[in-house]
Order: sequence, then structure tokens, then C-alpha cells
Amino acid sequence: MAKLLLETLKGNPSNSVPFWFMRQAGRYLPEYREVRATVPSFMEFCYDPAKATEVTLQPIKRYGMDGAILFADILVVPDGLGQKVWFETGFGPKLEPVVTDEAYNRLSLDGFHDKVCNVYETVRRLRCALPEDVTLLGFAGAPWTVATYMIGGQGSKDHAPARQLGYGNPQLFAKILDILVEATAQYLCAQIEAGADVVQIFDSWSAALPEPMFDAWVIEPTKAIVEKVRSKHKETPIIGFPRLAGAMLKRYVEETGVTGVSLDTGVPLAWAAEEIQPHVCVQGNLDPHLVVAGGDAMVQETLRILEALKGGAHIFNLGHGFVPETPPENVALLSETIKNFRR
Ligand code: CP3
Repeated sequence: MAKLLLETLKGNPSNSVPFWFMRQAGRYLPEYREVRATVPSFMEFCYDPAKATEVTLQPIKRYGMDGAILFADILVVPDGLGQKVWFETGFGPKLEPVVTDEAYNRLSLDGFHDKVCNVYETVRRLRCALPEDVTLLGFAGAPWTVATYMIGGQGSKDHAPARQLGYGNPQLFAKILDILVEATAQYLCAQIEAGADVVQIFDSWSAALPEPMFDAWVIEPTKAIVEKVRSKHKETPIIGFPRLAGAMLKRYVEETGVTGVSLDTGVPLAWAAEEIQPHVCVQGNLDPHLVVAGGDAMVQETLRILEALKGGAHIFNLGHGFVPETPPENVALLSETIKNFRR
């Protein structure tokens, strides 16, 4: 059976627009919270193939998305490299910061796959469990976004610690990006070998970098990952998500070589249709806060997006992930609106 999402990404769109949502498995779903409550540590949850498989499938069962995204986290990669990573309830991720050569030297690719292999097992289980027409998406964080956490030790305003290390100690900073490029490429290849149809690279914090840094810290590492993955898996589409990249989005698409690009909420759609969509499949870009509000406002904006992007390859998605306060019934209305649309 054909996979609508995969075919659309490969440049063969049909009358229906495929859809999935960032953070479609998450705290807005009561059945997610129930499984989540059985594991005290979030990282342990990510490494539990039975539970990670179960929560990946939950939104598909409820809403019938065309794509299922592997349940894990972008911070699995630094954890696999040997950095200490944990999540504090009500706070978010915490890591032992890598800001010295000594800390960098403790990172290693040697034990990487052994540490993260349960994620590959989740992918294998999903491959068997998913309906044939549902596309399975693997993912990883992009080196820059992951580095903001590795260097800052937590989420940070303006990613000041990572920027300052990038400027103040460019040698150490480059080594951190390099090991992330290698680990991430291997990690994505292993997900593809385990059964992922597509992979997405999340660069959530690529906003407002000066142009030379956007080139060196966002485009170059992503391009290197795309080349490494393509050299082993030529046919597998790769979606990039340089969130809030603004006018840099066009060069990101041209220079990284991604197959598709996820549009954040701020991207003007007429511009995207003209400048981006002729080159790659676009994915986006409903404001997740509209799904909290729901109703006619959400439906009208959904239709505006579908209309604006109907001239080329489009996968419907959000401009960023669902927030925990999203009412599940609004996701049902959103899903029906997309399913009923014909180009
Ligand atoms: O459904 C899906 O989207 C798949 C799973 C997924 C998660 N995180 C699960 C998760 C994916 C693709 C991610 C990616 C991720 N993780 C990103 C990039 C995308 C984005 O949102 O910008 C980033 C920056 C992270 C790092 C991260 N993980 C943070 C900052 C936090 C804490 C903040 C928050 O939203 O709670 C997480 C935790 C996390 N990852 C949760 C989920 C469902 C919530 C924690 C929980 O359930 O206890």
C-alpha cells in the first residue's frame, strides 16, 4: 500500500494532504500521561521500547495521522556520547555542561550505539506495529541545537553559553559540533536501518544567528549529516527544521540538500510557495496555540495554509510542537479538517 506522506516527500503529491504533528505523542493526551506516570525518569522512558512504542502509536490510533514520529528525545545523542543528561519535573532538561577540553575528552563515540540501542529497538517494533500506509519518521536534533544544551547545561535564553563558547573558544566549539555530526549521522542511519522511512533534523534554536554563524553552525553541520546519511541511504527523505531561520531559510534549503523543510509559524506562505516549494516539499505551519483555542479560528487558519500550499508538495504540520494544555478534541477537529480537504 502506498504511503501518502512518503510519496508526497518524494515529490509525488496526490489530492489529499498528508499530516502529522510535532509533539503528537505528549502530555496533552491523557493516555500518554498515564504511561509517563509509570516511569520516574524521562530518559528511562525514552529507552523503554515497549512504552516508547505504545506512546508513539497513541495519537495514530486516536486521529489517524499519516506519519508516526518515533518517541525519544534529541538529548539521547549527548547521553549516548557519555554526557550526564536528566530531566527535572517542572524545569526541563539538565546536563553536566561541556565547556572545557577535559569535559569534551570524556565524550566518546565508542559506546554510543550500545547506550542508545533501545531506541533502534523501538523503531523495529514500530515498523511491525504500524499500519502499512503510515510513514515512520525517525529524528535527531541538529548539532547546533543539541550543542546549546550540551554547553549551557539546560535550556537558555538566547543560547548565550553556546554562542559565547563559539566565539570565545572556536576550537573546542568546533570539536563539539564535529562529534555531534558524526554521532547524529550514525544515529539516523541506524534508525533507517531499523525501519524509519524518513528522518527529521530538528534545529529548534537556529533563530537570529549572525549570517556567518548560521552558515558555520547550522548549514555546514546539517549538510555534512545529509551527505553522510545519503551516502548510505540514498532514497530516504530527510526533513530539516531550522526554526525561526527567517530569510536564511532559502539558503538552508539550497545548501544542506534536505528533501523537505518544516516551516515555523512565522514563514509567509506566498513566499514559501514561490521560493521554497518548487525545490523541496514543505511541512507546516499552524500555530500550536491556535489548537489550544480551537473552533472556527483554527479551522479557518488550517484552510488558509492548505490553500496557500496546494500548488506543490505539502505535508500539513504545526509550526512547532503541541503545548500540554491542547484539548484533545481540538486535535480531532483539526485532523478531520485536513482529511476532508482536497487539492
Ligand atoms: O511526539 C513527538 O514529537 C516525538 C517525541 C519528541 C519529544 N521531544 C518528546 C518529549 C521529539 C521529536 C522531541 C524533540 C525535542 N526535544 C526538541 C526539538 C523539537 C522542539 O520541540 O523544538 C527539543 C528542543 C527537545 C528538548 C526537550 N525535551 C525539552 C526542552 C523538553 C522539556 C520541555 C517540555 O516540553 O517539557 C523535553 C521533554 C520532552 N520531550 C517531552 C516530550 C513528550 C515532555 C516531557 C515529559 O513528558 O515528561
